[in-house]
Amino acid sequence: MDIYKIKGGTALSGDVSISGAKNAALPIIVASLLADGETVLKNVPDLKDIRTMLRVIEYLGAECKFSTENNTLRISVKSIKNAEVPYELVKTMRASYYVMGPLLARIGEADVSMPGGCAIGERPMDIHLSGFEALGTAVSLEHGYIKARANELRGSAFKMRGISVGATANLMMAAVLSKGKSVLENCAMEPDVVDLGNFLIKMGAKITGLGTERIEIDGVKKLQPVTYSIIPDRIEAGTFLIAGAATRGEVKITGAVPGHLSACMTTLADMGFIIDSGKDWVSVKSSKTLKGTMVRTLPYPGFPTDLQAPVMTLAAIVPGINVIIETIFERRFTHVAELRRMGADITIEGNVVIVKGVTALMSAPIMMSDLRAGAALVIAALVAQGETEIRRIYHCDRGYEQLDRKLASLGANIQRVKGGGL
Ligand code: EPZ
Repeated sequence: MDIYKIKGGTALSGDVSISGAKNAALPIIVASLLADGETVLKNVPDLKDIRTMLRVIEYLGAECKFSTENNTLRISVKSIKNAEVPYELVKTMRASYYVMGPLLARIGEADVSMPGGCAIGERPMDIHLSGFEALGTAVSLEHGYIKARANELRGSAFKMRGISVGATANLMMAAVLSKGKSVLENCAMEPDVVDLGNFLIKMGAKITGLGTERIEIDGVKKLQPVTYSIIPDRIEAGTFLIAGAATRGEVKITGAVPGHLSACMTTLADMGFIIDSGKDWVSVKSSKTLKGTMVRTLPYPGFPTDLQAPVMTLAAIVPGINVIIETIFERRFTHVAELRRMGADITIEGNVVIVKGVTALMSAPIMMSDLRAGAALVIAALVAQGETEIRRIYHCDRGYEQLDRKLASLGANIQRVKGGGL
């Protein structure tokens, strides 16, 4: 397996362009199953999770051509051949559950292997399933598979018991072809959900209220395939801003939507970093008055849980005390043990983490356990004294396009060594 070798201590400097958003692209790829014909998606990031999702929809009957030169994906749908997504595919990527909405809408049945727990916590699916039931679906669990059957999806009013990105997206995809009107309440407002909604509207869906907690959908009989460009990835953007700040460098991210990054920008500014932004860029640089702050992860527009691990690395080397509260995935702390091995002073009590800033981190052999924890460790290695070897970097391949090359273009001393470790 490949490893990263990173020599820490270089301040990152320069511009870096942001790729398309993984978490918008995944449901949009699946939503292409809602129309027969050729969908063309632009600005699709070349990531392992995207490749896995292509395998999933190919299994269901789509034909995919992905040009990595221009990040354009062509998806051709003639008919849906399968209603089942096997364990082998779901186990590598939870987001495979997104096929349920489109499959129910197109053919009235979906059998999806129930995703297990993962490194960031238990992650139940009850909100998705009770929403499908509200739309007229019978749901059962058999031999580890969720079996969903609907003679006809009927529009309905449904209030989600908690805010869920995945459930909001899945229910939107089911409701667009349902009979009658659906009113979804307590919806996720994440830009990824809005991007999916805009894609569906371009296909001919009737949706209002995107980006608010109440989404109304008038079902239509048919949707058309379209050409659509995916929004920039706000989590990748935030990761590079945090890496720039942590190395006390001067980094400008380009091709971004600053409005999607407000919570991250506010947190960095609270810590004393100097933030500037324009129409499609944000820059960060250090100042002489850095200090600890408090970060609470929340649904959008709050601080994203997907940046909790990266910001913890930053907190570890900012003078003073930081309090980080994880409210979305309460056990998403697998990076902590590795950061401690590098010299970070971190205490966990339940979902509250106290991080006391230290003056330096030290290199150590470390291992990724999940995508964003992986990004946190890469940032830690960039600031650490000495050379750090990071194993299991396939986690970062799931969600960061060309991470090593982009960091190297900012001056990082990072090498990807093929077959370098277990
Ligand atoms: C999405 O996961 C993202 N994944 C995650 O990105 C992200 O961390 C998460 O939203 C929160 O922002 C994709 O978009 C593919 P949720 P999702 O449903 O949709 C609970 C990354 O690193 N819940 O919004 O699965 C759940 O346990 C990742 O890119 C239920 O209780 O997250 C959690 O506490 C990983 N029942 C909370 O809701 C349900 O049926 C929010 O989860 C569904 C969720």
